[in-house]
Amino acid sequence: MMKEKKKHTWRHKDLLGIENLSEEDLVLILDQATGFKEVLARPIPKVPTLRGKTIVTLFCEPSTRTRASFDLAAKRLSADTLNIAASSSSFLKGESLKDTARNLEAMKIDMIIMRHECAGAPHFLAGEVNAAVINAGDGFHEHPTQALLDIYTIREKLGKFKGVKVSIIGDIAHSRVARSNILALSKLGAEVTVCGPKTLIPAEMEKMGVRVVYGLKDALEGADVINVLRIQLERQKKALFPSTREYINLFGITKEKLDRHAKEDVVIMHPGPVNRGVEITQEVADSRYSVILDQVTNGVAVRMAVLFLMGHNKNLEQKEVPTKLHN
Ligand code: CP
Repeated sequence: MMKEKKKHTWRHKDLLGIENLSEEDLVLILDQATGFKEVLARPIPKVPTLRGKTIVTLFCEPSTRTRASFDLAAKRLSADTLNIAASSSSFLKGESLKDTARNLEAMKIDMIIMRHECAGAPHFLAGEVNAAVINAGDGFHEHPTQALLDIYTIREKLGKFKGVKVSIIGDIAHSRVARSNILALSKLGAEVTVCGPKTLIPAEMEKMGVRVVYGLKDALEGADVINVLRIQLERQKKALFPSTREYINLFGITKEKLDRHAKEDVVIMHPGPVNRGVEITQEVADSRYSVILDQVTNGVAVRMAVLFLMGHNKNLEQKEVPTKLHN
């Protein structure tokens, strides 16, 4: 008799990055998200699965998509939600992150979803509180749920990962999205290329097993997916390329460049926010190639899956600390 394959279960107290997740964890989240996408298409897109749980979003950096998406995901699962923005909190009076979190925990919360400008801030918090901590973006380090919604969208559009060629173009050095995407796609067997000005591609990229190219033509040719990143001027401490005009000429994604070099059915992704006319033209952002708004839609289902798995976690591993942080 054939032995039945054991069902993979979620064992993480926190979701701090893609680094600590296995391929099975990633597939579990994607499969769970598929069920929630079906829930979101119902006339009443809500299930009672997290009734009685309280979820806090603690954002110390601006956000539109991630924060709204987590808030909506929690509400769709019937959790109680509480939003705290650093700009209107007692952080401004000098309260520490640890004290803030412990005070919130004293109000019997179950999860903290946190965005912070410092790499490692959610990891620190995870070691201080019993509530589950989800990293919603920490400095240049990781943005795990963005990568999860990106890989969900790739699987939805292409049906597989093995051998899929994904080119990530732009400011790789300052991008937590790039890092989390590279980690997730590599675990799943996709072939990743990164492309941008030399000053925006860190030396460690080749060690991560990705192909590095400095010419856009090389990144576009043969790619199944092109993930376009924003230039993160707010994170650059000095000018890392001569001018925005030159960046647009060399790396901006235009219809003309796609027509000349890319596959006819290439999928264009962008995590947002989009700077139209800089890293991507209006025409391409709104074109038939673009799945930018599908990514946003999928983000709610993927975050529901993450909250569901973490909210029903009975097999916790020890608290995790990453091996290496990047700031
Ligand atoms: N993609 C992303 O993280 O967008 P926000 O900064 O608006 O959350």
